[in-house]
Amino acid sequence: MAKFYITTPIYYVNDAPHIGHAYTTVTADAIARWHRLLGDQVLFLTGTDEHGLKVARAAERQGMDPKSWADKTSKRFLEAWELLSISNDDFIRTTEPRHYATVQRFLQAVYDNGYITKGTWTGLYCVDCEDYYTEAQLVEGNCPVHARPVEVVEEENYFFKLSLFTEQLLDWYDHHPQAVLPSSKANEAISFIRQGLQDISITRTSFKWGVPVPWDNEHVFYVWYDALINYVTAISYGVDQDNFNQWWPAVHHLIGKEILRFHCVWWPAMCMAAGIAPPGHVFVHGWLLVGGEKMAKSKLNQITPAELVEQFGVDAVRYHLLRDTPLGSDGDFSYEAMLSRYNADLANNLGNLLSRVTAVVTSKCGGVGPSPNPDSELASVTDQVLEQALGAWDNFAPYEALDVTWKLIKETNAYLEANEPWRMEPSDSLDKVMGDALEALRIVALLIFPAMPSTSVTLWRRIGLEGSPANARLPESARWGGYPGGLPIQRSEPLFPRIK
Ligand code: MSP
Repeated sequence: MAKFYITTPIYYVNDAPHIGHAYTTVTADAIARWHRLLGDQVLFLTGTDEHGLKVARAAERQGMDPKSWADKTSKRFLEAWELLSISNDDFIRTTEPRHYATVQRFLQAVYDNGYITKGTWTGLYCVDCEDYYTEAQLVEGNCPVHARPVEVVEEENYFFKLSLFTEQLLDWYDHHPQAVLPSSKANEAISFIRQGLQDISITRTSFKWGVPVPWDNEHVFYVWYDALINYVTAISYGVDQDNFNQWWPAVHHLIGKEILRFHCVWWPAMCMAAGIAPPGHVFVHGWLLVGGEKMAKSKLNQITPAELVEQFGVDAVRYHLLRDTPLGSDGDFSYEAMLSRYNADLANNLGNLLSRVTAVVTSKCGGVGPSPNPDSELASVTDQVLEQALGAWDNFAPYEALDVTWKLIKETNAYLEANEPWRMEPSDSLDKVMGDALEALRIVALLIFPAMPSTSVTLWRRIGLEGSPANARLPESARWGGYPGGLPIQRSEPLFPRIK
């Protein structure tokens, strides 16, 4: 059985989850669900990043200790993911003992391999990014991401000798041209490496909220150095080598573009320094903007998943997130776009198709669904759609997979309009048309499962099928001819009532 390991970034607990976080998590979820349908053994990991100055300060502002604050906020992420039907197999928190142990084991290996030294560091630091900047990178003296002042920091720290990895990293990119996608993002990483890498300070003594350095208890690790290691904590690095080897290095990291350098420069170098292979695949996506800006607490432009779910329902929110922001580019969220997508694709195309089919089968076929015609013109459309959907999911392009799936829905609606079964008398010809439409709906239910799991199950049941699409095996189950016929069909409430 093929293995498929997919991860999201772990989210900072300084803040509550918003739809930007949901965009990454829903995307990873849909891809994980697709791979389960293919019969792969999937490990889907998400979690929370709980150390560092940013979290410590957020806790302080609330008058709480960092751990209690992290407990509270981490729970909000768990709740949001539950609300959005996220099917993660593991949820990692960086304050867990398993993670402390792994961070210490991993970085001790890097230290023992001679890639960590002591030194003094002075620099400019943005706490919101938990990242350093050079004078030249600042925009009008402020952090280029948060447009807020940076802090001058001077400390005696341990340094990771990142500069030693320049050639090795470039060589690795040469031999792994598909490792970072889209390739424009790989080029960004490569050009960053070519500019020359500097050693990085990876420990702190000025605060205690972090994983203690095993060889020097005065220090805790810098939050990014602990966070990246979560990806190997979850697969028992250093504890169970067989388990580790099953998932690594064939991992798929899904990340937002602002954390490219950490994942595509630092993390591969850290892996090399610890003596393991760099991550096999990193997929970099753009931002979901609101009014042209990245969501941020300070800008008061955050939209929570719960607000949207309340208005539109879970599956519609998932659909919109997946359908309207092609992975790789930035997307702008607006209620208007969400509403028109809902009414056009869900209420009209999909909802109407099911209503029409169930209405005709109830009134003209005695409520029993006929079987499909093996030579239907919809069969070739379906084959084509299936091939395209397989390719799109494989390329981390959910929007494209859904776009072609909607092509099948539209073609089926057009097929009904051309044949007008609602004007036909009960007959073999009518049965053929309705059997074809039911078969198309069965295949649609399978293809939308990763994006809209609960709608998929509802659709499945409404056309009389038992069990769940989750148990089907793709691509075989989605080939034309699987609808058995003779199943009871009932008219029922619209799947997606129109919203004004
Ligand atoms: N904790 C670090 C990641 C450590 S991974 C080892 C972090 N956390 S974060 O909470 O600030 O953001 C994590 C991710 O959330 C981003 O990389 C991105 O995937 C997602 N997003 C946060 N805001 C987003 C948008 N506005 N739009 C799209 N994705 C966004 O960085």
